[in-house]
Amino acid sequence: MASTTSPDNRNDLTKRVLRQMTLSSASNPLTAPLPKENLTPSERARQRFAIEGNAIVTGAGGIGLSVIRALLEHGASGIAIFDVPVSYATSIPAIDALKADFPQAKIITYDVDVRNENLVNDAVDRVVKDFGSISMLLCFAGVVGCEHAHEMKAEDWKRVLDVNVTGSWFCAQAVGKKLIAQKSGGSILFTASISGHRVNFPQPQVAYNTSKAAVLQLTRSLAAEWSSYGIRVNSISPGYMDTILNEGDGLAASRAVWADRNPMGRMGDVEELSGAVILLCSKRAGRYLNGADIVVDGGGIIF
Ligand SMILES: NC(=O)c1ccc[n+]([C@@H]2O[C@H](COP(=O)([O-])OP(=O)(O)OC[C@H]3O[C@@H](n4cnc5c(N)ncnc54)[C@H](O)[C@@H]3O)[C@@H](O)[C@H]2O)c1
Repeated sequence: MASTTSPDNRNDLTKRVLRQMTLSSASNPLTAPLPKENLTPSERARQRFAIEGNAIVTGAGGIGLSVIRALLEHGASGIAIFDVPVSYATSIPAIDALKADFPQAKIITYDVDVRNENLVNDAVDRVVKDFGSISMLLCFAGVVGCEHAHEMKAEDWKRVLDVNVTGSWFCAQAVGKKLIAQKSGGSILFTASISGHRVNFPQPQVAYNTSKAAVLQLTRSLAAEWSSYGIRVNSISPGYMDTILNEGDGLAASRAVWADRNPMGRMGDVEELSGAVILLCSKRAGRYLNGADIVVDGGGIIF
């Protein structure tokens, strides 16, 4: 019996047999504590936040590019970047700088609109061929929209939900399948937002807020469902960061409100997100972090 029903066969509801997820167990080597090694204090400190393997990073914008640099600084051997061609035009100089600064690492860009499931699946297949294996997925591809709710067009609502939620999901599913096939475990990091926790002010952004709340629940759902495969799934929730998403003269009044209402009196610098990302993605420091969301917002409890 199918585990889902269509509205036409409501009579079958009582005949369903629900699929069950399997949680991990203490003896599973993919989730058990890592063996202790005989290291010097400085080696132990370095290893605690080491990043190992290849990462797919979606969205090479302000936050994505900064995090890619941090991943490489902490030891990532390869970075596959998924973004749309229009953005590569502006991010190519920064990507070239990364290639020059980390010549030992493999860095490849792929034209991928994360809303397109086939493109995502093909690109993830290509990454496995190009890099040999995947260890991490970090999703930064995202768009914002600030419309009054009562005036919003369906296409604007859908665009935000499609990129931020469905795009993250397509990437996670494609990478999750590979990690499960590899039997390697791995780490997935989503980008939620303070907007997933609270309502921003003064700008109206119902679609964005809804999308980021969905990302938080995507995180927790996959963290539980994929635990037995050793796939840890976590998210970060940045506050207002100084990136192109929040730039422009038209945003000056809003920026002043955001800074004024923040206990630290300012917006965040993208670099200030890297520590949380490295913690969540590192095999050792992040070993028991699963289904977690780290809010990085300067203590912005006051909206
Ligand atoms: N900047 C902030 O204040 C802030 C705060 C909270 C959360 N976030 C989230 O952080 C993430 C990154 O934001 P940012 O500030 O770096 O923005 P950004 O605009 O600099 O980067 C976003 C990137 O996503 C890419 N992208 C958009 N649509 C895509 C698609 N369909 N397929 C593939 N790539 C696509 C863009 O081309 C761009 O490179 C987003 O998810 C955003 O919602 C940002």
